[in-house]
Amino acid sequence: MVMMATVLVAVVAAAMLVAQAVGELARVEHAPKEDGSLTVLAVGDWGRKGQFNQTLVATQMGVIGEQLDVDFVLSTGDNFYNDGLAGDNDTAGFRESFTDIYTATSLQKPWYIVLGNHDYTGDALAQQSAAIRAVDSRWTSVNKSFVVDAGIAEFFLVDTSPFVLRYWNDSKFDWRQVAPRDTYLSNLLTDLGDALLQSNATWKIVVGHHTISSACGHGNTSELVAMLLPLLKANGAHMYLNGHDHCLQRITSIDSPLQLVTSGGGSKAWAGKFKETSDKLEFMYDGQGFLSMRLTAAEASFAFHDVAGAVLHSWKLTKPTCTKN
Ligand SMILES: *[C@@H]1O[C@H](CO)[C@@H](O)[C@H](O)[C@H]1NC(C)=O
Ligand SMILES: *[C@@H]1O[C@H](CO)[C@@H](O)[C@H](O)[C@H]1NC(C)=O
Ligand SMILES: *[C@@H]1O[C@H](CO)[C@@H](O)[C@H](O)[C@H]1NC(C)=O
Ligand SMILES: *[C@@H]1O[C@H](CO)[C@@H](O)[C@H](O)[C@H]1NC(C)=O
Ligand SMILES: *[C@@H]1O[C@H](CO)[C@@H](O)[C@H](O)[C@H]1NC(C)=O
Ligand SMILES: *[C@@H]1O[C@H](CO)[C@@H](O)[C@H](O)[C@H]1NC(C)=O
Repeated sequence: MVMMATVLVAVVAAAMLVAQAVGELARVEHAPKEDGSLTVLAVGDWGRKGQFNQTLVATQMGVIGEQLDVDFVLSTGDNFYNDGLAGDNDTAGFRESFTDIYTATSLQKPWYIVLGNHDYTGDALAQQSAAIRAVDSRWTSVNKSFVVDAGIAEFFLVDTSPFVLRYWNDSKFDWRQVAPRDTYLSNLLTDLGDALLQSNATWKIVVGHHTISSACGHGNTSELVAMLLPLLKANGAHMYLNGHDHCLQRITSIDSPLQLVTSGGGSKAWAGKFKETSDKLEFMYDGQGFLSMRLTAAEASFAFHDVAGAVLHSWKLTKPTCTKN
């Protein structure tokens, strides 16, 4: 146990070499496996102190995480229900929904985090605080938007809540260091576009909380369809991965190779609400679960797992079909 903790500290320290120049997104380097491949899990909409099958999903993430020897975990946001963390002293709330739940050995890796709207109705800065990170060093939220550079793949974590106009009239949202909206969004879109364009990674995966296109209950996020989607298409992103809708879903665009993937099944699911879409719905599951991925220089394999770990849907992308090279 002592040895494992030491190894973990070393891994996290290596992952924390954050470099940044003016007008660029913060970057975290994460070395892939020795053969250059990478395995990752993604889960969203989870923090409910173990309730609504959060614990079952966590257990299966541990099992699949072990099988795949995962390098890290992505959270697609809504990390703490209902109103985020109360402050950077809300270590009890943090532990009850995170540290005490994702206990498997295979999950003792960095977790790269975006915020969801439920994180923003609490103290939205607490999740980036040193005090919270000191509770559990896996927790990696170096900024609300940042890039994880993992060699063959780059992950572009994007703060999507400020895009959604109706949140701005809701006094519960914590817009400190965000307002005014226009400046924040225009800087973010410029920085994201630059980072995508300059990326030499084989796989470019953008991660946010809100849907772009969805056939689950919340449906599309019109602000992201208008502002984010064109930028992703123009700059060669291969996938947009989100939460917000409590389902597992894959949509392929009718006019681009971009894959739109929802992994928001970390706890409460089964909303039973659906939206029509003119996009191509490849798969949708309204219950709990998570996404796994294995990336190599030639191929990317993805699978959705349910609350018992079973594979519900899997697919592969091969590099020639969808990179600029
Ligand atoms: C964090 O994000 C904010 C808003 O985008 C930006 O102003 C700030 O420079 C970023 N900080 C780092 C360390 O990247
Ligand atoms: C939890 O998962 C089980 C299947 O293992 C399912 O029967 C049950 O309805 C789920 N509970 C909730 C609250 O979603
Ligand atoms: C956290 O800090 C706030 C503001 O200082 C205080 O009101 C609250 O009681 C503190 N909570 C805990 C759990 O210490
Ligand atoms: C926000 O509230 C203002 C003032 O009540 C209103 O004019 C505006 O249309 C509202 N915006 C949205 C997006 O609801
Ligand atoms: C991508 O490759 C070009 C040419 O080798 C280099 O100038 C650039 O810095 C690289 N970009 C990144 C983000 O590493
Ligand atoms: C949602 O957005 C996608 C992508 O732009 C579009 O194809 C689809 O028609 C939209 N659905 C609705 C209901 O607006």
